[in-house]
Amino acid sequence: MAEKKIMLSGIQPSGNLHLGNYLGAIKGWVERTDEYDNFYFMADLHTLTVRQDPEDFRRRALEQLALYIACGLDPEKNTLFYQSHVPAHAQLGWVLDCYTMFGELSRMTQFKDKSKKNADNINAGLFTYPALMAADILLYQAHYVPVGEDQRQHVELTRDIANRFNGVYGQTFRVPEAYIPKEGARIYGLSTPEDKMSKSIPDGCIFLMDEPDVILKKFKKAVTDADTEKWIRFDPQNKPGVSNMMNILSALTGKSFEQIEQEFEGMGYGKFKPACAEVVIETLRPIREEATRIMKDEEYLRSVYRKGAERASVIAEATLKDVYDKVGLTYK
Ligand code: TRP
Repeated sequence: MAEKKIMLSGIQPSGNLHLGNYLGAIKGWVERTDEYDNFYFMADLHTLTVRQDPEDFRRRALEQLALYIACGLDPEKNTLFYQSHVPAHAQLGWVLDCYTMFGELSRMTQFKDKSKKNADNINAGLFTYPALMAADILLYQAHYVPVGEDQRQHVELTRDIANRFNGVYGQTFRVPEAYIPKEGARIYGLSTPEDKMSKSIPDGCIFLMDEPDVILKKFKKAVTDADTEKWIRFDPQNKPGVSNMMNILSALTGKSFEQIEQEFEGMGYGKFKPACAEVVIETLRPIREEATRIMKDEEYLRSVYRKGAERASVIAEATLKDVYDKVGLTYK
C-alpha cells in the first residue's frame, strides 16, 4: 500500500475554541483521519507573541486538547501535541529565521494587522512568526496544510523558504501545499456577518463550551438582514446574516440550502433563529460534556500529549538533524 500523505495544522490557544474553528478546521480534520497521516498541534509558542495571563493560557491550552478529542479526533490515529513540547520547532525556527528576509516578513498582511492591534507590543516574535510557522510545517515534511484563507500567505512564504533552502543545500524539505476548505465552511460572526466568526467579538461567537441558554441567547440576538423580505433565502450578497446561519445549519446537518429554504418556507426569522440554535446546541452538547469529562481526567490528557510529543519528536528530530548536518552545525 502506498504511504499516506502527511497533513499538518495547528491552532493557537489564544482564545477559547469556537464554532468557526470546529466547522472551518477540526470537523474536516476528523473526517480526513483515515486518509492521511495527521499531525495536529496547539501552536502555543505562537501565542506568546501576544501577552497572556499564564494561568488562563494554560487552562485554554489544555481545554483545546480536550476539545480536539471531544470533537472526534482520535489520538491513536492523529498525532496530537503541544508545539512547545517538541524543541525542534524552536530550533528549526531559529535556523529558518536566518533564511527568511526582512522584506518578506515586512510584507505579511497578518503582521501589519497585528501590529495595528497590538501597537504597544510589536515584538520580534510577532515579526518572525511566519518563519516559526514554516518550521512547524517543514519539520514534518507535510504534503498538505489545511488553513483558512488568512494563512495562505504564510504557507506561500513557507514554500519560498523551503525552495530557497533546498536550492542551496539540496533536497531537504518537502514543499507543502495549502489545503483550503470549500467556501461552505467559512463561518461569520452572528452579530457581524461581514466578519469571520472570532473570539474578539464574543456576542456573535459561539464557543464550543457555551451552555445551551447562552447559545440560544446569541442566536436570538443574531443580526438578520435589513432587506424588506423576511423569509429564509440563501443570498450572501443581500442577506449575509441569514445566509451565514443557513451555512451553519447546512454544515451541521448536511442539508442543502434548497432543503433548508423549503423547510422554513413561509416562516420568519423568529422561527428560524431558535431552530438554528437548537441544532447547534444538540451538536455541541456531547462535545462539551465529553471535553468536561476529559478535562477532569488529567492523567489521560497527560498520556495523550506525552505520546503525541514523542511521536512528533521522532520525525521532527530527523529533519532537524539533516538541517544541522547541511548547514554545518554538527561536529565530528
Ligand atoms: N498561524 C496559524 C494561525 O494563527 C497557526 C499555526 C501555527 C499553523 N503554525 C502552523 C497553522 C502550522 C498551520 C500550520 O491560524
